[in-house]
Amino acid sequence: MIVCHCHVVSDREIRRAGRAGATSVGDVARQCRAASGCGGCAETVEEILSESEGEAYSRDALPLLQVHPEI
Ligand code: FES
Repeated sequence: MIVCHCHVVSDREIRRAGRAGATSVGDVARQCRAASGCGGCAETVEEILSESEGEAYSRDALPLLQVHPEI
């Protein structure tokens, strides 16, 4: 399924970016250009990343580090 219509990027390509180490929408944008145009797909890109979270993406770890930088 095409997720990013600006750059014609599929959900499969986004999952592949996640397996390759993308941990944020910005990482995905750098790897396959999804979410680097109008930004309308950014929320969906984030959802797809979090669905395949078991691999590399951990949404919960980042806020903890930002709130408690001494950890
Ligand atoms: S639809 Fe993905 S950047 Fe526009």
